[in-house]
Amino acid sequence: MSEPVLTGSPDPSIAPTAVVVLAAGSGTRMRSKLMKVLHPVCGRSMLGHVLTAALHLQPEHLVVVVGNGREEVGPHVLEQVPGALLAVQEAQHGTGHAVAVALDALRETTGTTDGVVVVMAGDTPLLEGETLAGLLAEHLAHRDAGRVATVLTAELPDPSGYGRVLREPDGTVGAIVEQKDATVEQAQLREINSGIFAFDGGFLADALTRVTNDNAKSEYYLTDVVAIARQDGRLVGAHRIADVMQTEGANDRAQLAGLAAELNRRILRRWMLAGVTVLDPSSTWVDADVVLEQDVTLLQGVQLLGATAVAEDAVIGPDCTLKDVEVGAGAKVVRTHGELAVIGAGATVGPFSYLRPGTELGARGKIGGFVETKNARIGEGSKVPHLSYVGDADIGEGSNIGAGTVFANYDGVHKHRTRIGRGVRTSSNNTFVAPVEIGDGAATGAGTVVRRNVSPGALAVSGGPQREIEGWTERRRAGTPMAEAAEAARRAEASRGDDPPLAPEAPPGSHSS
Ligand code: UD1
Ligand code: CA
Repeated sequence: MSEPVLTGSPDPSIAPTAVVVLAAGSGTRMRSKLMKVLHPVCGRSMLGHVLTAALHLQPEHLVVVVGNGREEVGPHVLEQVPGALLAVQEAQHGTGHAVAVALDALRETTGTTDGVVVVMAGDTPLLEGETLAGLLAEHLAHRDAGRVATVLTAELPDPSGYGRVLREPDGTVGAIVEQKDATVEQAQLREINSGIFAFDGGFLADALTRVTNDNAKSEYYLTDVVAIARQDGRLVGAHRIADVMQTEGANDRAQLAGLAAELNRRILRRWMLAGVTVLDPSSTWVDADVVLEQDVTLLQGVQLLGATAVAEDAVIGPDCTLKDVEVGAGAKVVRTHGELAVIGAGATVGPFSYLRPGTELGARGKIGGFVETKNARIGEGSKVPHLSYVGDADIGEGSNIGAGTVFANYDGVHKHRTRIGRGVRTSSNNTFVAPVEIGDGAATGAGTVVRRNVSPGALAVSGGPQREIEGWTERRRAGTPMAEAAEAARRAEASRGDDPPLAPEAPPGSHSS
């Protein structure tokens, strides 16, 4: 089953010359140290979602305009798109100025701005690549008829804050007017400029030289190129979409939460349609890059984050947070917190398990209740069922670690590994003082502190033999309920005429070797 987030390519013959993403603004309303476009939504930055949509068009060049916080935004872009061109806009004089800066960078690199140039902002996390492909197709279909720009529009019940689209009687676009510059009548219009355009690059470069900042914000508006096209006798079209949320940007954290919830709903819906059971979508969060196979079941309260991948028939939940975790087919994971871990096919984990980075649980293995693991390879069919810490360990196949075991991996200076062979049975309440090895088929007694390597097939025990001080309670705790119980037991034995009971056979761990 393929990932529902779009990655396929449209017809490469219609790929645009460049996509320009504007990300130089400061985003003050987020009230954050983190740049607005870097705020995460469903596992990617807002900008990351926009770049993913942009890449769907397979443009020859991707130009990102950076300014505020460019020391963070720039590397973030290059990490995702190593070949991207960063165009630096030192001061933010408006969207028209920002695009001019982008075209300068494009011309410097390629010698031209000809071809189709798609422009968008960096803060619309719900934007989909297919929507951009639709805009591009619409633009190309009318290019021969003299169209030099196509704007993506939407009709909003409340258009406040957006630029309004002024249509000509023939349906083409005559101008875009910013809210602050709009007449009362223009402000009534509900068709808005999404800020996403397809342009003829040559026209755009020329028109931007003619844009002025004679407006309410004293900025160079990109939107003014529409009226300039009109004056030149060229045409501007509109591509209107019904799914208005795709064009919505987050300006503050309340809007950010709203968009994140909506994106999560969309991601879950796609997975449900692809054959995943989601018992309670309202308490389930799945990041954009997560991959789920058919017949996966997600119970209540599950968060699947980062690059988590879950294979078919696995059941996750209730109440799990898994980040960058690979879950094998048919595995069951209950009330577990995991990060950078691998859970094998048919394995069981939880409840109340903590899988830290580097945990690899083999097929049909088990990590049980109140167990923490880190840098631990646990072999096929091996089990750590209860109350244990397994750090820096290699455990072979078919071994069982007793309840309450601690892998003491840290000597205060260095971390060391513990190696446990296959078919090993360790008893309860053991401590493995690393570095140490336990051979194949070996065993340990209860309470053993393993400080030296154990040979294959040997039983390791530590601690002295169990001693008994007869009659201690009656002598030292006379008059207490404890002493009464002991006396009663002794009288009962005497009246039965039994021999005093033998001390129960000592468990193996109580003898010294
Ligand atoms: C812009 C549009 C408006 C549209 C709205 C859609 C203009 C003049 N107005 O308004 O018609 O309805 O987007 O959301 O284009 N940026 C830069 N450098 C600058 C200025 C802006 O990189 O000098 C970037 C911002 O970081 C942002 C994007 O351009 O990503 C849009 O800028 P913003 O100031 O938010 O424009 P709006 O006022 O929302
Ligand atoms: Ca905006």
